[in-house]
Amino acid sequence: MIKCVYPGSFDPVTSGHLDVITRAAAMFDNIIVAVLVNKNKTPAFSVEQRMDFIRRSTAHLPGVQVDSFSGLLVDYMKRQNANLVIRGLRALSDFEYEFQMAAMNAKLAKDVETIFLMTDINHSFLSSSMVKELAYHGGDISGLVPDQIKNDVMNKYRG
Ligand code: PNS
Repeated sequence: MIKCVYPGSFDPVTSGHLDVITRAAAMFDNIIVAVLVNKNKTPAFSVEQRMDFIRRSTAHLPGVQVDSFSGLLVDYMKRQNANLVIRGLRALSDFEYEFQMAAMNAKLAKDVETIFLMTDINHSFLSSSMVKELAYHGGDISGLVPDQIKNDVMNKYRG
C-alpha cells in the first residue's frame, strides 16, 4: 500500500502548497501533510498555527491528515509506515536542492521514494517567504494563500 507524506515548513501554507496537496489527494487515498518543527529556525507562525492553517485549508479534501515532525524525515516516515515523499517543484532553481534531498533520503532509507509534482504555472513564483514579505509591507496576498487563512496571515503584520 502507498502511504505518502508531504513534508515542509509551511510557514505559512501557500496556494502553491494547496495546489500540490489537492493534486496529490486526487491520486492517493491518504496523505499526511507533515510540518517540520525546526529548533534552529524561528518561524513566523508556530507549529500549531501552521497545522491549523493547513487543516482549515484542506478540510474539503478527503484523506488529508495534518501532523508535525522533528528530526529526520526518513525516521518520521518509518514511524508512520510511509514509503512515498511528495514534493512540489516550482522552477528549475528548486531542482538542485530537491535532487540532493531526495538522493540523501533514498540513501538513508532504501524503501523511501520521492515523487515531484510540478506546481501550477500560476504559482511558480510563489513562496512562503514572498507571502510574508508582501504581508509585512501591506501588499495584497489574495490568491497567494488559501482564502481560509488570508486574514490570519494579514493580521499578524497589521500594526
Ligand atoms: O518547505 P521546506 O522548508 O522546503 O521543507 C524542507 C523539509 C522539511 C522537507 C526538509 O528540510 C526536511 O525534510 N527536514 C528534516 C530533516 C531531514 O530529514 N533532512 C533531509 C536529509 S539531511
